[in-house]
Amino acid sequence: MNFTGQVAVVTGGATGIGRAIVLKLADKGAAVMIADINEEAAEVTAAEVAEISGSSSAFTTDVTNVAACEGLAQATIDSVGPADFLINNAGIAGSPGWQTRSHSTEDDWKLTYHVNVIGMSNVTSAFQQQMIKRRSGRIVNLASVAGREGRPSLSHYSASKAAVISLTQSTALELARFNITVNAICPGLLWTPMWEQVGDRYAHDVPAYEGMTPRQVFDTMIAEKIPMQKEQTPEDVADAVAFFVSDDAKNITGQALNVDGGFYMR
Ligand SMILES: NC(=O)c1ccc[n+]([C@@H]2O[C@H](COP(=O)([O-])OP(=O)(O)OC[C@H]3O[C@@H](n4cnc5c(N)ncnc54)[C@H](O)[C@@H]3O)[C@@H](O)[C@H]2O)c1
Repeated sequence: MNFTGQVAVVTGGATGIGRAIVLKLADKGAAVMIADINEEAAEVTAAEVAEISGSSSAFTTDVTNVAACEGLAQATIDSVGPADFLINNAGIAGSPGWQTRSHSTEDDWKLTYHVNVIGMSNVTSAFQQQMIKRRSGRIVNLASVAGREGRPSLSHYSASKAAVISLTQSTALELARFNITVNAICPGLLWTPMWEQVGDRYAHDVPAYEGMTPRQVFDTMIAEKIPMQKEQTPEDVADAVAFFVSDDAKNITGQALNVDGGFYMR
């Protein structure tokens, strides 16, 4: 795999899974634009990229803000060139304080849908003209196995990720005639800042996990739910992203790939 001369944009690329995707694509030669609401962390990740490959840029972006997404698309052209790959990874699991509540509030529903689904659509809309013009592009959306089936205590998040799988199929149909592929990845259980919050919520709200630390909840779920009996890593997800944007996947679109150690098999 060699992405030299190609440009990748990764939303939520400052931390967690997004950071691993940024480092993987940069390691394979791509110039990377890191788009994240967390400016400080994005600069740190951009500095790490500079050590690997040189070409990177960071742009402070809130994916819920249409003007900011359009600014990001222009800043990408200006700094690293038109985008070949768009990785829609930015996501949240609830509104502030959600992890210590015992039910989903209207704000949890609204903000989670706004970032995870509408935000994804905002960024895709901002970049698709660059791709259509060149009759080429790869878009990868981060969904979740939580979008495949319901989750106790996380209905708002699960529903948003089911919507991501559906959005991926619709966008794939819309852009197929322009030689643009659109696929989703459904990660299983990864120990990232987001999952630490999920563990906190389960310890508050799911009787089986009551009183556990977030890490104990996580380890218990790995033992109970993952046939391969190991956690997934941000690097596992980054490997799947690299496959979807590579030439090997040129005829694959509208798919959702589980990277989950066998968690979900239907
Ligand atoms: N961790 C898991 O187990 C897991 C499992 C399945 C799916 N996912 C999905 O993978 C993606 C990455 O998750 P993660 O675990 O690395 O989370 P994370 O919280 O570690 O990272 C998310 C990144 O998105 C950024 N972000 C949040 N809101 C934003 C906004 N409005 N605009 C721009 N950037 C924003 C954050 O600043 C952060 O850098 C998410 O879409 C998440 O739903 C995670």
